[in-house]
Amino acid sequence: MTVDKIPPGPGQACCSLSKKRVGILVAVCCVAILSTYMYSLNCCKSRTEAPPKLKTSNSPSFHKTPIFAKIKANTRMPEPSVNATQSEAVAAVKQTVLFHQLLQPQNPSPTNQDDLSSLSSWSSVYEEADDDLDLVPERAAFKPQGKWKRRLPKVIIIGIKKGGTRALLNFLKAHPQVTVSGKEVHFFDRFYERGLEWYRRAMPYSYENQLTVEKTPSYFVTPQVPKLIYRMSQDVKFLLVVREPVARAISDHAQSLEKGKTTPFEEKAMLDPRKCSVDESWSAIGIGLYSLHLTRWLKYFPLDQFLFVSGKNLVANPGAEMGKVQDFLHISRTLTEKSFVFNETKGFPCLRTDENGEVRCLGKTKGRPHNPVDPRVRACLAEFYRPYNEQFYNMTGINFHWEE
Ligand code: A3P
Repeated sequence: MTVDKIPPGPGQACCSLSKKRVGILVAVCCVAILSTYMYSLNCCKSRTEAPPKLKTSNSPSFHKTPIFAKIKANTRMPEPSVNATQSEAVAAVKQTVLFHQLLQPQNPSPTNQDDLSSLSSWSSVYEEADDDLDLVPERAAFKPQGKWKRRLPKVIIIGIKKGGTRALLNFLKAHPQVTVSGKEVHFFDRFYERGLEWYRRAMPYSYENQLTVEKTPSYFVTPQVPKLIYRMSQDVKFLLVVREPVARAISDHAQSLEKGKTTPFEEKAMLDPRKCSVDESWSAIGIGLYSLHLTRWLKYFPLDQFLFVSGKNLVANPGAEMGKVQDFLHISRTLTEKSFVFNETKGFPCLRTDENGEVRCLGKTKGRPHNPVDPRVRACLAEFYRPYNEQFYNMTGINFHWEE
């Protein structure tokens, strides 16, 4: 019996066709899976090769780190992207030093100061709002020259935190020959890896005949900053608002109380009040060792590039103090004593905004009331600071009379 080959019916044809399709589909799937696998391998590889992310103030742990622990632990510095070789940057980062070396009042040795470059910023991290004081009618008379563009700063207010830096910046902002960056930029102490172009863009627009000014008070106490600014420009002028260091520390502490800290000043400042032993590791104390910090700056810049603004005079006689600032910056004496009015309620001078006598004061975070501090602790601290203050007077050639 011959069995005729039965031609495939429509169902069978369909079956063999779908087998083919399945085959193709499987092959396509395999290729897809394989390429996904290869791609993910690549991804992982490049991820492991990427530089570890820098710890910035935005990192959640940053704010929680006690300040001294932060100084010791954060020995990494962002890699300079401008004018700096990698090995230089790495060398600067690797240098470490015991905190006590920084605290020796006798003969601070300039040669040792480079070692301080491993210490990170001492600033408590805080952002300040720009008290927007757009003032002084003379601004209208200003004749702009050149292009309207963002420029790197020619003047930097490098500190001192709680010295009156915001007041100085806002007073300068009222000057027609000045433009200011309202926010603290923190380029040289936190964001250096972002590069100079980033820094320039963080600056306000200005004309050629205007000075761009930025203020970041933590620069003064951050070891690597003088060197990094020097790499950017050797002609920058520095404004440093100084204040009696005990009052400064109390002001610093008042700010931290407002941010939710609760430990009383006396407890933070003293290791043992009976022995008058000061806790030098507390940043609010360390910032006040002005002579040590200044020594590092003078390794890179001559003294005549600094103006030491008296925080006390800035309150008591702002017209005269701003006169010195304007002369130092070679800008017109636009701000005079007539530009300021003492506000009884605020207890501070405020700027006259127009000829009708309207005034604008700084915000409520400036000129806070302070809790009373135990006079014995004050006396201990005054004694502690005495040699550093004297050294600072000798270095600057100015006696600020803080002991009186
Ligand atoms: P207090 O708030 O402890 O009084 P900084 O701006 O560097 O953080 O400094 C703040 C300090 O600036 C204030 O400290 C205050 O004493 C001082 N200051 C100087 N001139 C001022 C002004 N015109 N208005 C308010 N505060 C001023």
